[in-house]
Amino acid sequence: MIIASMYPCPFDGQDRHEFNSSLIDCNKIYSYEEGKLTSVKNDGTPKFPERSLMLGFKELGILPNQVQKWVFPTPKTEINIDDFHMLFSWYFKAFNGSKDDFDSWFKRHVLFVKHHQSHASLAVYGSNFDDCAFLCMDGGGDFGDQRGYVFGEFTNNTFNTRFESDGIDTIANFHSFVTDAIGFSGDDNGKTSGLASYGTIQPDLKDKLLKLISVSKENGVKFDRRRFNRTSVNLDKVKADSYDRTKIFSQYPSDTNILREGIEYLPHDIAATGENILQESVIDLVKLLKNETKKKNIVFSGGLFQNVALNKALLNAGFDNVYFPSAPSDSGLSLGAALFVKNQNNFNCTDILSAYLGPSFSSKHVQEVLDRHRLIYSKPLNMAKEVAKKLSEGGTVGWFQGRAEFGPRSLGSRSLVADPRNMQSKEKINQLLKKRDWFMPYAPSILEEKYLDWVEQVHYSPYMQIAFDMKPNVINKVPSAVHVDGTSRVHVVKKTENPLYWELISEFERLTGVPVLLNTSFNRHGISTISSPRQAVEHLLEGCMDYLAIDKYLIAFKDNRVVAKRNEITESENMLLQLGSVERLSVFEEHGSEIQLISYLKRLSDLIGLNLELLSDRKIKFKDKVSSIKDMKKILTLEIRNNN
Ligand SMILES: [Fe+2]
Repeated sequence: MIIASMYPCPFDGQDRHEFNSSLIDCNKIYSYEEGKLTSVKNDGTPKFPERSLMLGFKELGILPNQVQKWVFPTPKTEINIDDFHMLFSWYFKAFNGSKDDFDSWFKRHVLFVKHHQSHASLAVYGSNFDDCAFLCMDGGGDFGDQRGYVFGEFTNNTFNTRFESDGIDTIANFHSFVTDAIGFSGDDNGKTSGLASYGTIQPDLKDKLLKLISVSKENGVKFDRRRFNRTSVNLDKVKADSYDRTKIFSQYPSDTNILREGIEYLPHDIAATGENILQESVIDLVKLLKNETKKKNIVFSGGLFQNVALNKALLNAGFDNVYFPSAPSDSGLSLGAALFVKNQNNFNCTDILSAYLGPSFSSKHVQEVLDRHRLIYSKPLNMAKEVAKKLSEGGTVGWFQGRAEFGPRSLGSRSLVADPRNMQSKEKINQLLKKRDWFMPYAPSILEEKYLDWVEQVHYSPYMQIAFDMKPNVINKVPSAVHVDGTSRVHVVKKTENPLYWELISEFERLTGVPVLLNTSFNRHGISTISSPRQAVEHLLEGCMDYLAIDKYLIAFKDNRVVAKRNEITESENMLLQLGSVERLSVFEEHGSEIQLISYLKRLSDLIGLNLELLSDRKIKFKDKVSSIKDMKKILTLEIRNNN
């Protein structure tokens, strides 16, 4: 029995994001995100995830006309059968009968699954629990299923919903509004979590924000969400080769109730306070739900559970066993829906989920790409040993092996790896490849057999779902892989799941005594994780890394290009924190009262150790200089840089 599933539904009227597709052919599973193929973050421009779907057919060696069940999310609009006739007959060649027969074919072969049923199914069937509770929370589903909160129980292969609530007034959107109010793109929630570790919870801000939050088992965590004015399109963010839709269609910060309440606070303190409210309110809810069920196991799904700090807190919220799926956000919906259909139809095959469900490339294909670029390469007899040596000598390596990861994290198939034992690795990756925000942590991959020597929590985490507390005695052994708060988003590497990557880390341990590698996604700043050998080569030739280990080939940047002089200026985190807070002054050019600006200037003065005063007409005084907000930002930036 072969199942094909995609998200969103073709010809649906709603604009959606995180397109993805999946195939199940008994024990063979494929799943992949469209944005990794188009290199457009949050790509929602195609009608449906055609490229990832067709790549899946190729990967599994099946044709669309062999599919017995086509699975789509419940659409917003009533479907037009003629559109589907065209799709299945003209393009997929899955239907070969006369048009009059199409209606009955469609009824037999096409199924629709609701958004939250798919979220829940990915978690439940991925967990292999026979009996568990499930909790789904996100920003409000989609127009085919507008729930933002679903809690229920799973037993005897049956889902029984206990509580559910519609709407976009959810705690997930509270976090997005906090993210927006700090000035990040509204879906850059991870940045808020990263910055939060540098801030302090502000009790008065917390009191104000808590008035907007309510917790009940019937409705989940509700957020009194207010947006006062629409923003305009942000043309500054339009870039042809690193197109990110969410940054373009809104400007941040926008005029929301969170911005109005939080404007006078420093960005890292807003982040810390928002993060704390999120964690406490969800934990309160889970404890309420625990009282409602006798289940010992619980699974979590929905975009909210991409938050690794929240997930850590949920390990101790009353349930004995906890499971987070590989792709809790909407990128996991096609696989969740496919698993639902498979298991509800009692197809007699075990679900063997792993992170490695994406496309692969043959050695022949890779060699053609290398030869086309006329690259000098070697074919080491033992790739793991050779690469481990390069890493221990300070090299950064693009690691492109086997089937690509499905889900938001790079897990040793399309990864950039480095030596975690010094901070230079992190700085080098940031300068050459990522250029990402200074406060964002890098994650470690640790051998399954050793990870309990390194972390406090006991939880097998193959998909990087948890921010573990690192044991105090190991933090200085891998400084570039530990966040400022002493946590790490650990990827636990199991030998049977990714043997070559496991071997690489083992070889590194043999050389250094450390069974850990620094692991980040294989992509330069601004695009999704790369998907093709050609992109990998382009990254190498752009100087994003020292080596590329792809299939059985090892290619050195220095053997193929004259090494450009690299800019290796390092900047202290404290200085960058101060500069970020100065940058935030620009929000007062459009928003905020005089009193709020005075309050912000006081906080900023304390942070940067300089005395700022507000004069009339919103002019700011510093030493003998009186300037507009815009010019004062430049003066202060210079002053801070000189003082550091
Ligand atoms: Fe969702």
